[in-house]
Amino acid sequence: MTEHVEAPVVRPRRLRTTAALRRMVAETEVRPRQLVLPMFVREDIDEPQPISSMPGVVQHTRSTLKAAVAEAAELGIGGVMLFGVPATKDATGSGALDPDGILNVAITDAVSEVGDALTVMSDLCLDEFTDHGHCGLLTADGRVDNDATLAAYAEMGRAHAAAGVHMVGPSGMMDGQVGVVRSALDDAGHTDVAILAYSAKYASAFYGPFREAVGSSLQGDRRTYQQDSANALEGVREVLLDIEQGADIVMVKPALAYLDVIRQVRDAVDVPVAAYNISGEYSMVEAAAAHGWIDREAAILETLGSIHRAGADVILTYWAAEAARLLR
Ligand code: PBG
Repeated sequence: MTEHVEAPVVRPRRLRTTAALRRMVAETEVRPRQLVLPMFVREDIDEPQPISSMPGVVQHTRSTLKAAVAEAAELGIGGVMLFGVPATKDATGSGALDPDGILNVAITDAVSEVGDALTVMSDLCLDEFTDHGHCGLLTADGRVDNDATLAAYAEMGRAHAAAGVHMVGPSGMMDGQVGVVRSALDDAGHTDVAILAYSAKYASAFYGPFREAVGSSLQGDRRTYQQDSANALEGVREVLLDIEQGADIVMVKPALAYLDVIRQVRDAVDVPVAAYNISGEYSMVEAAAAHGWIDREAAILETLGSIHRAGADVILTYWAAEAARLLR
């Protein structure tokens, strides 16, 4: 008589038995080197200004920015992404092009502080500088003029490169922006300045707190140029177009509501993929944690882990410095 052998119970739980074992078999792990800290620097202030909808994040003065950039380098994070908040805004966003404009001087400040020890990146967009708050120049009837805006982006890219930036981040979602900025940089001899393209950038309710952070005066929305959240394939298409035009890194933004897009992009391309864990994603966790409703540190690490697991090689996050400490 042959003995009947029961198939053993398959026990995935066995590999979860101890913390050491879980650590050994973890499939993914976020490292500080992959994190980029977005930072705001504001003209004409003497003290850093808190941003009420983003507890823990401030608008820096030029000098506190330098100190924070130096600290970021110490922590071994991947880089910083700088946003300028000018004292005055106008219809064409002229402060963005002025070599003495806040973002351009802040780039020089940051690079003079850390040299090549940290990647200094800049947001290349007009919305922080325009009085109407749009990412581009407007036509007489108030529409965002794609091609006129491209010329401004080219000049802005040259200004950032002249200020010493390592990488520019065109974020205005104008068609052709990456190619125009690439040519402008190359023609001015800045062939080593890289482009992190905000390629698949969606019109999102989660940008709310950022608009406070940059003192945006935007009325209405950005739906004629940022993507419709219903579309994922279109995100892949935008990414492929940006790579053709010379993007070195492509980005999906926001991150959490678009984890599927991050995955599809990661599977479709052979350049590094970034994702932006944006202001509203930050504020939701901070607000819930402030109420004692969630474990703040665990939620931060789980959030960043999910974005990485979805396929992001690089993550822009307001928690970059703190997470680097937690992940050391
Ligand atoms: C455009 C820009 C925005 C953000 C980064 N770059 C605002 C927007 O597109 O409305 C949002 C970042 C965030 O919400 O954290 N310059």
